[in-house]
Amino acid sequence: MKKLLVIGTMIISLSSIVFLTGSCSSQRELAAQKSGAQLWADNCLRCHNLPSPAAYNDVEWETIGLHMKERANMTTEQIEKIVSFIQTAN
Ligand code: HEC
Repeated sequence: MKKLLVIGTMIISLSSIVFLTGSCSSQRELAAQKSGAQLWADNCLRCHNLPSPAAYNDVEWETIGLHMKERANMTTEQIEKIVSFIQTAN
């Protein structure tokens, strides 16, 4: 009887691990699917208004991207998407 209980507990905890990692990776996939424009709106509004793409040139946006990546704690992939979106929009 005790053995059954142990096995039951193991199955339940295993399936919750599978469930948790499964939902985590789908959230990550969702974030990876976001476009530069979406990421820009989601992240850059947290601290200040969205700066106009025309306010800076392409080289300046590269530098601002590095600067804001640190401030906003974003991944390189995210900031690259945002910067290339801004560069096509200015
Ligand atoms: C965690 C808060 C935070 C987030 C998120 C953030 N910024 Fe900023 N941003 C700042 C602060 C604070 C400044 C003022 C300059 C400084 O001291 O860093 C600033 C300044 C700027 C400037 C002025 C130029 C400069 O480098 O000083 C631009 C342009 C800018 N941010 C763009 C962005 C973009 C684009 C994003 C999204 C990728 C973003 N910011 C996300 C905090 C943030």
